[in-house]
Amino acid sequence: MSLVADYRVYPLISALETVECLQDLVQVTWEDQRVSPFHNLWLRDNCHCPECVYGVTREQVFEIADVPENIQPQTATIDSEGLLLIHWQDGHRSRFEPGWLRAHAYDDVSRQEQLERRPKKHLWTRDLELPVFEFEAVMNEPEALLKWLVALRDIGLTQVRGVPTDPESLVRVAKRISFIRESNFGVLFNVKPKADADSNAYTPFNLPLHTDLPTRELQPGLQFLHCLVNETTGGDSLFVDGFAVTQALREEDPTAFRHLCEIPVEFRNKDRNSDYRCLAPIIALDVSGDVSEIRMANFLRGPFMTAPDKMTSLYHAYRRFIEMSRETRFQFRQRLNQGEMWCFDNRRSLHARDAFDPASGVRHFQGCYVDRDELLSRILVLERQVNH
Ligand code: OGA
Ligand code: ZN
Ligand code: ZN
Repeated sequence: MSLVADYRVYPLISALETVECLQDLVQVTWEDQRVSPFHNLWLRDNCHCPECVYGVTREQVFEIADVPENIQPQTATIDSEGLLLIHWQDGHRSRFEPGWLRAHAYDDVSRQEQLERRPKKHLWTRDLELPVFEFEAVMNEPEALLKWLVALRDIGLTQVRGVPTDPESLVRVAKRISFIRESNFGVLFNVKPKADADSNAYTPFNLPLHTDLPTRELQPGLQFLHCLVNETTGGDSLFVDGFAVTQALREEDPTAFRHLCEIPVEFRNKDRNSDYRCLAPIIALDVSGDVSEIRMANFLRGPFMTAPDKMTSLYHAYRRFIEMSRETRFQFRQRLNQGEMWCFDNRRSLHARDAFDPASGVRHFQGCYVDRDELLSRILVLERQVNH
């Protein structure tokens, strides 16, 4: 079985040069002179032996609370194959491949390297060079698929062209990533004017910049919008990078930014059979304090409910956010034509459409959602195939 509880290959970056047992850790010096401490508890916790990790699932069966907290190696050495070999005082043995160990090292330099290796978001404004991909390529070539998905992850707005205009073709594209996320609007939703509309999307009105389903605890990660036909006057698409707008807001009106991070707002989506509500701030931050998500749809918002001494500030912040997202410097505008499909990060890129005249022709888009987790997982699996 594999010596690592993983499906990835960990190339050898640098060999182990020396190892030394200190009080509660093993200190490794690599051939390139980097020094990495590995705590005894950490090493025991990450033992890959067949007793600790079930080879079929590559998941751990051992729990660190099964051994004493002051667990100590009897010896720590580099074996004849260059692996770190630990003999524990209770007789257990653990071996660690240097490639795996280096990839998981947590000394200051290695942690900094990890941070730098994280995918970087490319913020964009009105002059975005739209990443465009061809249907045939993303359907048939893993390399093209991977390029598309990386653009989705890092830029958050892409277009696929040459998508057949048979209804439901977008399902084939979405399934290149993974499962479709169904909602009360169906597995697929048909965006066209409907007499008995259960959303403003199904009218010819202008739809202001928004994210879809802000009314759910977890907003869909990706949204697909495929144009089957677009013959109307008006109805052009518009996008802004919510991360770029909020970055500017943070610099230009930091108090408004803070209020949008802190004051929850309720979003509602109701019809005769459903009533979805979500109370959350418009801007969410991740553990590093970076913006990780925008939640916004004016037409799905409930009345503000906050303390009287905060109401004016909330309105100021909310208005500033809308005003800024209306500024042309942020707006990427393009009409979607037959056979083209938008695919974007719905938790980052806000989308809108101009009003259109339904008497001027037919306009029919189909849409669906896929979660961000599916995108990220698919990228990692494709990277196993494409990069090795
Ligand atoms: C939607 C939507 C855009 C369009 O259905 O959520 O934003 O161009 N539609 O019709
Ligand atoms: Zn073990
Ligand atoms: Zn929408």
